[in-house]
Amino acid sequence: MKHGYLLSVCTFAIIHLGSASENGLARTPQMGWNTWAKFGCGISEETVLSMAKAIVETGLDKFGYQYVVIDDCWHAPSRNQSTGAPLADPTLFPNGIKKLAGDIHGLGLQLGLYSSAGSMTCARRFGSLGYEEIDAETYVSWDIDYLKYDNCYNEGQSGTPLISYNRYKKMFKALNATGRPILYSMCNWGEDQPWNWASTIANSWRISGDLTDNFGRYDDRCPCTSMLDCKLPGFYCSVARIIDFAAPLGSKAGTGGWNDLDILEVITHFSMWSILKSPLLLGNDLTSMSQDTWDIITNDAIIALNQDPVNSAANRVFNRSIEGGGSLSLWVGNLVNGTTVVAIINTSSKHQRLHLSFDEIFIDWLPARTFSYRVFDLWQKTIKAGETLDFSQWTNSTIWGVDLGIRTASLSGIDVGVHATRLFKFVPW
Ligand code: GLA
Repeated sequence: MKHGYLLSVCTFAIIHLGSASENGLARTPQMGWNTWAKFGCGISEETVLSMAKAIVETGLDKFGYQYVVIDDCWHAPSRNQSTGAPLADPTLFPNGIKKLAGDIHGLGLQLGLYSSAGSMTCARRFGSLGYEEIDAETYVSWDIDYLKYDNCYNEGQSGTPLISYNRYKKMFKALNATGRPILYSMCNWGEDQPWNWASTIANSWRISGDLTDNFGRYDDRCPCTSMLDCKLPGFYCSVARIIDFAAPLGSKAGTGGWNDLDILEVITHFSMWSILKSPLLLGNDLTSMSQDTWDIITNDAIIALNQDPVNSAANRVFNRSIEGGGSLSLWVGNLVNGTTVVAIINTSSKHQRLHLSFDEIFIDWLPARTFSYRVFDLWQKTIKAGETLDFSQWTNSTIWGVDLGIRTASLSGIDVGVHATRLFKFVPW
């Protein structure tokens, strides 16, 4: 590990040092589960509680999945007519949200709730615009730990960063005034470039329209090709499109404030959400999860990339078009102790084989090109029958990560299947 110290110094010099919301939360991207992808409006106390129990029963909590977030449609038909306070639907939540929060806390988890910085939520339930104080106070009286705050029916209060900032800041101030630390997860779909202004008020901000369960298909309902000046974020955005959106925004993420790439629906994109430092919010039915799904979302060598204390999102080094559609891209990110994550994504429908020189991988830092590295393949398991290998000090996992040996100057013969992602960890040697 002779180059370890030097690498650490340089890594420190290029990490993001922006100011974050000072509520002390989301020091690393938040992890949890959200009702929307699987249940939409079909939620109830029972569905939420059964998912929370499943988090504990399947051991997901031990990997860091902590927040259970109730998305849209928890609302009663209207607010309390005399006080204006929000009310939960008494049929769906017969014991009230406070009781549910108590049960969730009893399981060692935290509860999140959803509202919109508009007159209505996206599913046309009552929104919080103009009701910020009473809503924040009520959420706190219900012992809520997290607020996802949407953008529907915003009464035209968007169009410039300042207009959006002021609207979202009202809820930030109202939450702060309660004195309870509440993770504030903004969801204005990248409108008015939240990555430029949200880090002082929110713990995360969605950067795009809603993700759909598709890897790379273009859909006119997600019309922008870049989010940098997008006028219609839309929805039905594919995994590959959101990765494109996130590519230039990595440096805007940092401790306490994260680019949110939306709920994880297609678990094959777990790697990219991890290295781009998105909150990791599961959206699948946890009570009927396959072993494969469990294996993916509990790959602790990958989770460690997301939660790495250097808090530096990976950058895209190249993005080469493939004939017939799609691309092959290389992503590199700094990790703690001078280690590096290297990801290769193939969004095309053709198998790819490539040779990567260290000149390409360490494009941002010349000295690193001359070092040797022990390379680990993080989507392969180390333990084969009868073996007792321990790679934990290099991969943060005793199971995940196969040692490919020591490499100098290049990594060759890398196969990347159709719509596949390969992830490697480089440890200076
Ligand atoms: C918007 C949000 C989604 C979800 C729905 C709920 O579309 O972007 O994540 O919260 O509203 O109605």
